[in-house]
Amino acid sequence: MTGKITEGVFSKILRSVQSRRGGYVRVSSAHLSGISYLNIGDAGLEFLEDLSKSGIRFRVKTTINPGCVDFDLKGECDLEIVKKQERIVQSLKSMGAITSLTCTPYLFDNPVKKNQKIAWAESSAVLYTNSILGASTNKEGSLTALASAILGYTAKLGVHARNGKKPEVLFEYQGELNNELEYGLLGYVMGLEAGAKIPYLSLKNNLGKNLSYFKQLLASFGTSGAAPIVWIENITPGSSRVKKPRKKIVVTRAKLDEQRKLLSENTPLIQGEKAFFIIGCPHLSLEELEKMNESLKDIKKLLIETWAFTSYRVYSKAFEKGMLKNMHEKGVRIFKDSCIMHCKLKGERAYILTNSVKAAYYLRGSLGLKTVLKSLGEVIEEYGSR
Ligand code: F3S
Repeated sequence: MTGKITEGVFSKILRSVQSRRGGYVRVSSAHLSGISYLNIGDAGLEFLEDLSKSGIRFRVKTTINPGCVDFDLKGECDLEIVKKQERIVQSLKSMGAITSLTCTPYLFDNPVKKNQKIAWAESSAVLYTNSILGASTNKEGSLTALASAILGYTAKLGVHARNGKKPEVLFEYQGELNNELEYGLLGYVMGLEAGAKIPYLSLKNNLGKNLSYFKQLLASFGTSGAAPIVWIENITPGSSRVKKPRKKIVVTRAKLDEQRKLLSENTPLIQGEKAFFIIGCPHLSLEELEKMNESLKDIKKLLIETWAFTSYRVYSKAFEKGMLKNMHEKGVRIFKDSCIMHCKLKGERAYILTNSVKAAYYLRGSLGLKTVLKSLGEVIEEYGSR
């Protein structure tokens, strides 16, 4: 009975975001954000526990974002935080969630097909599934994605409405893109310029169809912009058939450099601060881990504490391939189940180097840490002992 009442509450949540004429659309999967104890605190934990005790169950395949703990490395964090993160995961599991604990569920845990209608939170995953895989999801909030997991439908708005994916502004970039960080910076600048408008990106000088670079571009775009999709010429399914918008914005190299400076410290490390290199925002794919492993081949060790974040599924596959031992020997610690907003960083006097614009944005903004943007290649060059 309580489950039914709670379902009624979630119907109301969806109705509150639904347009009068829009109606609803059925979805076949949901992905939930807002599950890290560091973000939702005791109030969020109690809410999810109450929900699971009410008897409510998810109607569609549902995966969950990372928390703030790697459960195999519990000793790294305050025990109280570990226990509370476990209770959050347990509540979601008892409602039927797959305990994927990753922001890249599209890789293994919740694969999607072209034109599939889904209700996902986590902006980086939303941008990737729409722009690279051709699925359809709005940038759902934590509560609306939860409502969709319970009800099996979402409001027929945004990308689910007629013409809801139509590109509105054409972006051209004048300059070179040499690494994953520069793709990320381009996405971030595009998001700042586009606001809520849907962009169409035409790239001339780029590094080809390497999806890991576009993954960075899209995650950064999702950090500064509001649109759920970026049409990328020759990459997004159907990009050759949509009409390019007339309104055009040209992005220059100077804009990228400006944002890089704004998200980077200009003071060196001071006494009492600890430097880390953080990679894996969004979580590294197996290919990215392999590429990282390959680029460490020519050095003896990285002389900076390096943390790489990935999903449990990718971690297991890397383990089977024997990659983890080599990376560990080169000074790389691999974390799974956790966001880069890891429990150990809270309250640390950390000075973070990262190749992810999204990571720099949140580590500065939410945890108040110092950040410096550097590509993986630059870090290996500066900190690799030969
Ligand atoms: Fe993933 Fe956390 Fe980055 S959810 S995209 S690692 S901020």
